[in-house]
Amino acid sequence: MSGGTPFFSVRDIHAYYGESYIVQGVSFDVEEGEIIALLGRNGAGKTSTLRTLARVDNPHLASGEIYLDGQAVHSMKSFQAAQAGIQLVPEDRRIIGGLTVEENLILSQVAEPRGWAIERIYDHFPRLGERRHQDAVTMSGGEQQMLAVARALARDVKILFLDEPYEGLAPVIVHEIENILKEVKKMGITTIIVEQNAVAALQLADKALILDMGQIAFRGTAQQVLDDVELRHEYLAI
Ligand SMILES: Nc1ncnc2c1ncn2[C@@H]1O[C@H](COP(=O)(O)OP(=O)(O)OP(=O)(O)O)[C@@H](O)[C@H]1O
Ligand SMILES: [Mg+2]
Repeated sequence: MSGGTPFFSVRDIHAYYGESYIVQGVSFDVEEGEIIALLGRNGAGKTSTLRTLARVDNPHLASGEIYLDGQAVHSMKSFQAAQAGIQLVPEDRRIIGGLTVEENLILSQVAEPRGWAIERIYDHFPRLGERRHQDAVTMSGGEQQMLAVARALARDVKILFLDEPYEGLAPVIVHEIENILKEVKKMGITTIIVEQNAVAALQLADKALILDMGQIAFRGTAQQVLDDVELRHEYLAI
């Protein structure tokens, strides 16, 4: 995009689960290639914000605008947002049981537009290549998280949303996923990462947003949050 328009722009979005008003006027911009850590306490509205941005049915976007590379995402359904390049890797990873690793990858490429070829994915995720014929849900949590990220890359991803990619993983596995995300960063894939492990997310991220009760309480660089003990204590309990 030229003319100073942000790559991804969120403008005053408000979203509800039924009558429950959850996302309360969130605005931010993301430049192409940036990694944003979206942080906040339990129940702050991080998952709801990602779901709203990915245009999942629930919560319902009542007002506000979302633009990706000039496209009006706010008027899209979730499948259209996915076609436009928004890839949400949800907390539960949504690996499909009864299908092998390779079948999970193939399935993610049934619809256009496709991203990486499967062989390229195996080059970057050798563990997945070794396990290509294994039932995907029998893999370890860390391997399933790798597959969830790989599936997003198998699509033509323009912005990647990661909801708690380190959740439930042993520290050594967190480290492996971190290395994968560093690779993703080097490839210049624009990413929003939500993580309870705020320090790990901040070490990866360029910028940080802190949500509190559905509103943005802080925006700045990741380093600012790492350096600000009071801020971390107030909103992140670290
Ligand atoms: N399906 C739902 N129906 C009604 N309320 C919901 C639903 N999902 C979440 N909420 C409420 O919305 C608020 C924000 O929840 P959300 O899951 O977005 O928070 P979060 O920041 O991701 O928290 P966590 O760190 O625990 O994952 C909470 O008060 C939660 O109870
Ligand atoms: Mg959440």
